[in-house]
Amino acid sequence: MRAIYTIIFIGVLTVFSGCSSKDTAKQEDFGEHNDKIKELLSKMSIEEKVGQMTQITLDVVSETNAAQHTFQMDMLRKVIVDYKVGSILNVSGNPYTKEHWYEVIKTIQDLAGETPNKIPVIYGIDAIHGVNYTLGTTLFPQQIAQAATWSPELVERGGAITAYETRASGIPWNFSPVLDMGRNPVWPRFWETFGEDVYLATKMAQAITFGYQGNDVSASDKVAACAKHYMGYSFPLRGKDRTQAWIPENYLREYFLPTFKAAVDKGILTFMINSGEINGIPVHASKHILTDILRTELGFKGLAVSDWKDIRYLYIRHRVAASEKEAVKMAVMAGIDMSMVPNDLSFADYLLELVKEGEVPMWRIDQAVSRILYVKLKLGLFEKPVTNPADYPDFGSEKFRKESFATALEAITLLKNNDRVLPLDSNKRVLVTGPTAHSMRALNGGWSYTWQGEKTEQFTEAKNTILEAIKLVNGEKNVTYVEGTDFEKEINIEKAVSAARNADVVILCLGENSYTEKPGDINDLNISDPQIKLALELAKAGKPIVLVLVEGRPRIIQKIEPVTSAVVMAYLPGNEGGDAIADILFGKANPSGKLPFTYPRFANDLVTYDHKFTDAVSPWEDEVHDEKMTGFSPQFEFGFGLSYTTFEYSDFKVSAAELTNGDSIQVSVTVANTGKMAGKEVVQLYVTDMVASITPSVKRLRGFSKITLQAGETKSVNFTLKATDLAFVNAENKWVTEPGEFKITVKQYAQNIFVK
Ligand code: BGC
Repeated sequence: MRAIYTIIFIGVLTVFSGCSSKDTAKQEDFGEHNDKIKELLSKMSIEEKVGQMTQITLDVVSETNAAQHTFQMDMLRKVIVDYKVGSILNVSGNPYTKEHWYEVIKTIQDLAGETPNKIPVIYGIDAIHGVNYTLGTTLFPQQIAQAATWSPELVERGGAITAYETRASGIPWNFSPVLDMGRNPVWPRFWETFGEDVYLATKMAQAITFGYQGNDVSASDKVAACAKHYMGYSFPLRGKDRTQAWIPENYLREYFLPTFKAAVDKGILTFMINSGEINGIPVHASKHILTDILRTELGFKGLAVSDWKDIRYLYIRHRVAASEKEAVKMAVMAGIDMSMVPNDLSFADYLLELVKEGEVPMWRIDQAVSRILYVKLKLGLFEKPVTNPADYPDFGSEKFRKESFATALEAITLLKNNDRVLPLDSNKRVLVTGPTAHSMRALNGGWSYTWQGEKTEQFTEAKNTILEAIKLVNGEKNVTYVEGTDFEKEINIEKAVSAARNADVVILCLGENSYTEKPGDINDLNISDPQIKLALELAKAGKPIVLVLVEGRPRIIQKIEPVTSAVVMAYLPGNEGGDAIADILFGKANPSGKLPFTYPRFANDLVTYDHKFTDAVSPWEDEVHDEKMTGFSPQFEFGFGLSYTTFEYSDFKVSAAELTNGDSIQVSVTVANTGKMAGKEVVQLYVTDMVASITPSVKRLRGFSKITLQAGETKSVNFTLKATDLAFVNAENKWVTEPGEFKITVKQYAQNIFVK
């Protein structure tokens, strides 16, 4: 058997020379790039190879405290020419013009041209909702809002625009998308995810990956995407960033792996690794996750980069390595190809020593370097190391702005609308109040112009806050503005209350200020006390309150929701968000967003919609379901969102009562717009496994379709359901569809089928 195996592989390959037969299985096939990679590997010194595996941040090679970014040329030369570093990342200080970015990348690539093999540097940036470190780009709603559109088409187009504007900035590598699941709303990066549902997030993962990379990533308007943070990063026990997670392998595979697998299937070129630890094992040291699952099972071919300082952290934070050098060996042998070091050149020094001492074998270095070269070749960097902004006429265009606006419009989710208080008639006298009413920073969230987004107001002069947009739509004379409160301290609540008495309606804009990562950790999911006080005091004026939420995670509003007439969830809608919110409030657009997560009612009751049956039982077996006594009574449910029109569902059909494994059935339903306004509806199909060997979820999304219906129009929607769509991961960590009864639900309809 072994002999036959070896013969087969000799034919295929490929890249490494001098491998022992023992290492044959580690060789990878890079298709048309095999020869070039093989040639380069044979010419490169060990120093050049470990240099390729090193990524440093721009600060290291830039002047400190300079008003304008400038290079420290001696240091840059040392990094690129002496150390032959393969990658640089990030921005130093404020965002740059696209022209300055061009100078930055060109300077780096010119120096790379002086290295023995002239291997271009790959520059990487976090362009997570548009190119947030370049001035004048199109900033989109953040990912959580993109998910709320339930429109993979919009998400794909947004990704394509971001790719274009990233390349217009000379940069070929985007550290996006976040494919972590938003299943713990306390986590400060919840808003960077596509929400809690695996099926929805998987569709979005595919759409955005294709938007970034297209069919040919070497095209001058495409970038290498980066699936991050592989995997389980988003589910720390207590919600704080980079703290321990406990996730059994079957749940890891069922809930946290599918988005990453979807990205691999779409040809994603790079992965960034989870900074955290799962079941006591830091992911940067987990060969099981980095090699066995990512490479052997998923067949991922590109490069895996560490996250910020995470190799060093194996030593100084996680304490699984006794020295930094041991940490380097551990991470490289687990499967990290490139280290985001990023503040010095220690990684390259340690790795060189380890190779010379025989502690890290040459095959592993060659494997990592070949993956890095593969990505550079795929991007066409050897032929064109830098793209020129002059070739990108659509950069920051009106056409692109409209896409961002459309995405914000379709994201905004109407959660409550008592007595049809919305849409508001124009010319109503409104009081606009609250800390998110006049803040571009709040609309954009973190990763906007700077990491924490604290300087956003400086760069968004031309964009409208909610207040400014409402004035444009409703006429300045009809709008009064009183801050009321800041996020953390009261400003003039009494003044707001007296202004409310003179208004017809109060538009109360609450939520969160920008944040991400550790600085965004919180101890309490409740919306802040001054905001609660503002809402409760305003209620005393007796005017209808329209609550607009601008926030990256569902801050608990249970105490104030009863005093509101309407609730509009805006998420973090980006630079066009103010205009989109105003258009929805005043009926120039019809809301069609649906929650991509469960909005909890209580801070201690954080349960996803696809929870277990035991999460929702009454304490007495036979008694009537009592909402208060059960463990599941969210403020608003996953998938929920109102419209200004009404939709009626009818004609629900399931094509067969039985389903054989390997087969599929059709599910169809008819939807009519029975109101007076055109609108969009998201038709959602859920399945329930009635009995399973691992306690089943009460329901799981397995299909959705967003349709547009004119007033009076009717459409029929069809879904194909395969037996494999009913599968779950069992105790042996395998996807299985167990025979038995399943319930299929669309809106108010349900039908059971039997799988044989
Ligand atoms: C974040 C990553 C990001 C990287 C580079 C890290 O702190 O976790 O998401 O891509 O920094 O900026």
